[in-house]
Amino acid sequence: MNAQITPLVANTNLDAFWMPFTANRQFKANPRLLARADGMRYWTADGREVLDGVAGLWCVNAGHGRREITEAVTRQLNTMEFAPTFQMGHPIAFELADRLSKVAPAGLDRVFFTNSGSEAVDTALKIAIAYQRARGAATRTRLIGREKGYHGVGFGGISVGGMVNNRKAFGASMLPGVDHLPHTLNLEHNAFSRGLPQWGAHLADELERIIALHDAATIAAVIIEPISGSSGVILPPVGYLKRIREICTKHEIVLIFDEVITGFGRIGKAFAAQAFNVIPDMMTTAKGLTNGAIPMGAVFAHRKIYDAFMHGPENAIELFHGYTYSAHPVACAAALATLDIYAKEGLLTQAATLSPIWENAMHSLKGLPHVIDVRNYGLIGAVELEPRSGAPGARAFEVFTRCFERGLLVRQTGDIIALSPPLIIETAHISKIVEILGEVIRATS
Ligand SMILES: Cc1ncc(COP(=O)(O)O)c(C=O)c1O
Repeated sequence: MNAQITPLVANTNLDAFWMPFTANRQFKANPRLLARADGMRYWTADGREVLDGVAGLWCVNAGHGRREITEAVTRQLNTMEFAPTFQMGHPIAFELADRLSKVAPAGLDRVFFTNSGSEAVDTALKIAIAYQRARGAATRTRLIGREKGYHGVGFGGISVGGMVNNRKAFGASMLPGVDHLPHTLNLEHNAFSRGLPQWGAHLADELERIIALHDAATIAAVIIEPISGSSGVILPPVGYLKRIREICTKHEIVLIFDEVITGFGRIGKAFAAQAFNVIPDMMTTAKGLTNGAIPMGAVFAHRKIYDAFMHGPENAIELFHGYTYSAHPVACAAALATLDIYAKEGLLTQAATLSPIWENAMHSLKGLPHVIDVRNYGLIGAVELEPRSGAPGARAFEVFTRCFERGLLVRQTGDIIALSPPLIIETAHISKIVEILGEVIRATS
């Protein structure tokens, strides 16, 4: 296997691929190429084994190289590679939506398919605004996101998102009428909390302040990640999400949970909504939906939202929105096979079983040089490092590259190292992750 891969790499010109969310020049000078994957592991192009601490990119929840998915995709490609879903349909699209509605929180049993998390977010925002109109509240067009939120890279998503680097270059083209809640990360109060932090539920009341400023009759929706992943794992303080839910209900504002990361077992139930027992009106999902094998996203909408559109002449389109590849048959096949694996192997609840072990392992990193916080929930973890003076992100980037050299894939955002391993992880892998990360942190100045 290695002998086959190496010459291929030597001859590959890296110039043409403009890499996403990547330091292109740094990468191309010193590439980190992954060439094969199985179970908990990747192998680099030159044959080195790398333990996957981030499920690829928070998506390969059932582990790599799942034959069941490969076979389902192959079967579907051999049967029907594509069929339209505009004014037409194909059976496995309906089968998948039905299966998803059965693992969804009660009531969220109408499913709109997209090809990514970003599209799911923009779809949900559009549905929320159109829903308000459909129910006779057409003045409700404002959207509320949160500082440090990540909702993908569409114009809707970056507008409600709150990560400055994702926004600042596109400032003038952001959606108007968007406001942001404060984020809930506060090391002064919550550093080294185990699980959810105790301090900060009162930050939900900022929503009342924003509503008082604009008037509820102008606000369509609030979108938040139950746990922010991409900005460095920000956990909801105890009671925070429940309070947000209460305020949205009181003011008839649609609450959207962006579950692109937390969905499909990441924190011990199928969705964070169920794990936290706070049910939104819509959920956006992607990633773990197909185990990362084929791109796909899905918006789960409460039945009352769907029903609000089902008026007017029966031959009229109710929602002018959709993608050529909404419910692509091959993606549907991958998702159905993925759901089968999750059910058969109990993976949607596995994070709850492993979370005490994971929590102890993560917190064993407390006390290492430069570690200013450790955060964890379900099978998510983060280690925050003190930034080097004048060089934010440099220390964590070094930790990321050294971990890779030592055979561990982690994710770096700013000065935070984030972890979200495949849900098939075993205790020996957890020990290995913490051992390598700990050694690297100790060795990094
Ligand atoms: C919470 C959240 N929403 C949306 C997205 C965007 O998903 P995609 O990259 O599939 O467009 C992500 C991706 O990490 C995410 O974490």
